Amino acid sequence: MEITPEIKERLKQLEEKYTAMGQDMNSYLDGLLHSKVVTYWDYIKLDILLNLQTQKTPFEDEYIFIVYHQITELYFNLILHAIDIIADDVNLTAEKYLVQLKRINLYFEQLVHSFDVMIEGMDHDQFAKFRMALLPASGFQSAQFRMIEICSTGIDNLIHISARKQLAKSEDIHEKYKYLYWKRGATELATGRKTLTLLQFEKKYTNKFIHLIRDFYHKNLWEQYAQLTPEDRANEELIYTMRKYDVLANILWPLAHYKSAVRYLQKDKADIAATGGTNWQEYLPPKYQLIMFFPELWSEQEKEDWGRKTKLDEFMNIK
Ligand code: HEM
Repeated sequence: MEITPEIKERLKQLEEKYTAMGQDMNSYLDGLLHSKVVTYWDYIKLDILLNLQTQKTPFEDEYIFIVYHQITELYFNLILHAIDIIADDVNLTAEKYLVQLKRINLYFEQLVHSFDVMIEGMDHDQFAKFRMALLPASGFQSAQFRMIEICSTGIDNLIHISARKQLAKSEDIHEKYKYLYWKRGATELATGRKTLTLLQFEKKYTNKFIHLIRDFYHKNLWEQYAQLTPEDRANEELIYTMRKYDVLANILWPLAHYKSAVRYLQKDKADIAATGGTNWQEYLPPKYQLIMFFPELWSEQEKEDWGRKTKLDEFMNIK
């Protein structure tokens, strides 16, 4: 076989790479010699991935329910991946911020548009039956959803609207954590008591969330924006993209999700209360949660209208 100039150049680059790491290139070439070629099914662990759906019931639509939650968690993970890149960049510019934030918006747009898989894509009666086999598990126990919130904004913006003013001056993260808005979710409608869903979730993740709140205190998405140069902070495309993220994450996805609850769950309060149901009708609508990652980027009128409009265009005031 002829050793072409290209091959020679590659070998020279490999030599430089491994020498720089104090490694012997030949050992790596030996490794290459013996290693199996990569296959698509090995690379993405396809067999493992397609064996991660363990149904609790024989209802065929439960499979859709599992897979769509897994798809959502993978997108949540992509969002956290992009947030980490912004959070850890010590030479952040508006341009670099925009690259990652546009990707985050792409992921959230996929999640908003695909929620019809849930809303339109399952049989109502099958859902009513298999859902009972899943209790008290709920998407409410999605830790990544909370992590996205904690890594996007300061803890003060995640406190329940009724306690925000009172806790604004407190430095006590543990105290503030107690009043996060979602502590009012997954609560029994009849008694106001926390459900097992919420109690299990708090037990499993409280330490992790408190640690993350501390870790992202000075590098969450808002803080990273606030630390840009005045010129970069005035970048209109960045401001537009941040507002879009706020609307996708805190209005459009919650509204799509709320639609699925309206489609599948009992709506008569008496029935809900009688069956130990939760306060989801008061809790889920974004106009009640009033969560904004970047309140500084919205006018008082826009804040008042929060969650009361449903179309991105309307909210972004695009003429
Ligand atoms: C048929 C589809 C669905 C229904 C009927 C539904 C129902 C609910 C309800 C009622 C709640 C409020 C907590 C409670 O009262 O139990 C909730 C919360 C939640 N669910 Fe779902 N859900 C569905 C699909 C999903 C999917 C696919 C995900 C993706 C991970 C998800 C993630 C969440 C999250 C993150 C919360 C907390 C939302 C918040 O705190 O604002 N749900 N869900």
